[in-house]
Amino acid sequence: MRTPIIAGNWKMNKTVDEALDLVRKLKESLKDVKDREIVVCPSFVALYAVAKEIEGSNIKLGAQNCYYEDNGAYTGEVSPVMLKDIGVEYVVIGHSERRSYFAESDDLVNKKAKALLKKGLKPIICVGESLEQREAGETENIVRKQVFRDLDGIEPYQLNDVVIAYEPIWAIGTGKTATSEEANRVISLIRDTIKEMYSEKEASVLRIQYGGSVKPENATELMTQSEIDGALVGGASLDAEAFEAIVKF
Ligand code: 13P
Repeated sequence: MRTPIIAGNWKMNKTVDEALDLVRKLKESLKDVKDREIVVCPSFVALYAVAKEIEGSNIKLGAQNCYYEDNGAYTGEVSPVMLKDIGVEYVVIGHSERRSYFAESDDLVNKKAKALLKKGLKPIICVGESLEQREAGETENIVRKQVFRDLDGIEPYQLNDVVIAYEPIWAIGTGKTATSEEANRVISLIRDTIKEMYSEKEASVLRIQYGGSVKPENATELMTQSEIDGALVGGASLDAEAFEAIVKF
């Protein structure tokens, strides 16, 4: 049985005060939720304050990125060690916005995933095709390649701590959602890829989220698909009531 994981990716939004205001509301409205994991991913600037605010609650902390070295002369970067130190548990890596605006390659995503796992952190690895790739019939090919490259060298026992997020790029922030059947189909293909790389056992426990215009109105339909184990939510996670409704699908 895979526990659903609903994560809010706040992206480059919210000052520290705004972040605290949101998380205080969520702490209250989600306090009775027990059968699913709840994660919020504020910006680096708000992480520490949010970490303190959610101590002892059922809300877990995620970061939106990291570098793969422990420390050193890497101006502007933040390391897994630093994140772990303040109570971060999950780290989103390979988000399509990072891949497209900051030229992140699968090789870099793979290095980050390994560094996080080594430090006892859990990567949420994002994969997904662009509209162009989808229209050219390349969805399967692209997603399979990303999974192979991003997980390269990761040991079977480490997969317990890995989450994959399938986020079709054309569905992010556009209001367009993949149909639940289509999201389920691609996620099932990702699971088959895991089976090919590892075994049936690993494939059956690995959690795979869907992301891309998840809203209260479509959450139940998406989340009740057989292969979908939760959501990575952007825009709707910035609003306490909308995120609450998605978590409680
Ligand atoms: P939206 O929910 O705003 O489409 O964003 C999805 C996303 O990119 C989550 O990481």
